[in-house]
Amino acid sequence: MTLELVTAGESHGPALVAIVSGLPAGLVLDRAAIDEDLRRRQQGYGRSPRQRIETDEVEALAGLRHGRTLGSPLALLVRNRDHENWAWGMSPWPPEGEPTGKGKEPVTLPRPGHADLAGALKYGLADVRDALERASARHTAAVVAAGAVAKALVREIAIEVAGSALGDDLEARVDTARAERDTIGGVVEVRARGVLPGLGSYASRDERLDARLAAALMGIQAVKGVEIGAGFELARLRGSEAHDEIHRDDRGLYRETNRAGGIEAGVSNGEEIVVRAAMKPLPTLMRPLQSVDLETGQPGEALVERSDTAAVEALAVVAEAAVAFELARAAREKFGGDALADFVAAHNAYRERIDWRPR
Ligand SMILES: Cc1cc2nc3c(=O)[nH]c(=O)nc-3n(C[C@H](O)[C@H](O)[C@H](O)COP(=O)(O)O)c2cc1C
Repeated sequence: MTLELVTAGESHGPALVAIVSGLPAGLVLDRAAIDEDLRRRQQGYGRSPRQRIETDEVEALAGLRHGRTLGSPLALLVRNRDHENWAWGMSPWPPEGEPTGKGKEPVTLPRPGHADLAGALKYGLADVRDALERASARHTAAVVAAGAVAKALVREIAIEVAGSALGDDLEARVDTARAERDTIGGVVEVRARGVLPGLGSYASRDERLDARLAAALMGIQAVKGVEIGAGFELARLRGSEAHDEIHRDDRGLYRETNRAGGIEAGVSNGEEIVVRAAMKPLPTLMRPLQSVDLETGQPGEALVERSDTAAVEALAVVAEAAVAFELARAAREKFGGDALADFVAAHNAYRERIDWRPR
């Protein structure tokens, strides 16, 4: 049994849904902690006014009783409060009455860098909205809700996961880009402390923890590069400079450096896990790029829609959630446990067997 996450939901549809299966029974979830992560995702310098009209809140539909998981699939829901402005345009069922509100005109001018053209070609769409509504990063709210649950699970085995945006001139870059009606990207880092050696495996490529974390991060919109530890920098170093020497003192084995980012051969090695993701500049531009109208074949300017100037700090929260979920999944595979007490007991017995004392 492993943890699985399925999300559903369009950007301006009625709601986002996250279904998490494989959670041990008996895990206490704190609604305020999930809402706090949803709030963090909506914050950050450079977000659009949408984040001010909506305050995301989680609702639980299944798998939870009195704040405790039942071991059955957990279904979480986050409503799109903005849906009321799109009730006709994004009605799941054929809408009744005259077209009204947002989304009633078809989108025919694809934005370079977004899902618009590839989605329209792939599915033969007359209205690009059918592609962009799901491709939009709005559903990362569901990922963040599931990530908050994963963080609660791994906290039971003393793992803490934290994401942050790198670079201290972010606000200045956002201000300049916004003034020029442009967008920016950036780099985020996620660190996980307390991970025992032994999560993931070199036995098969899809079991490698580095591969799984990279896929989890690449699975987030706008992420175009992933590094584990010193990452690309390692390519420029000699072996003697790159690898982390192994030492021993009275508390056990340790490293003085962590250029491997806590993973060797696809397996956690007990050091802090350090991963970074590079985000491209957001594709919706207030001064749009050149495009072609898919209906008329004529040149035109790409779609302009309310949009963020930057979402790097939001990505840090989403990346934290994605990494936490993948670590929780790897831990669930290693330690089993359909009941939380068994999961924690297996973890503690393993830690004793390898005689590992976290520093
Ligand atoms: C948290 C977050 C917020 C985003 N907000 C926007 C946005 O407001 N406008 C936009 O054009 N793209 C935004 N994006 C990026 C697009 O969703 C993404 O570029 C698009 O779906 C195409 O996918 P790709 O960049 O992975 O190729 C955001 C991405 C993330 C992770």
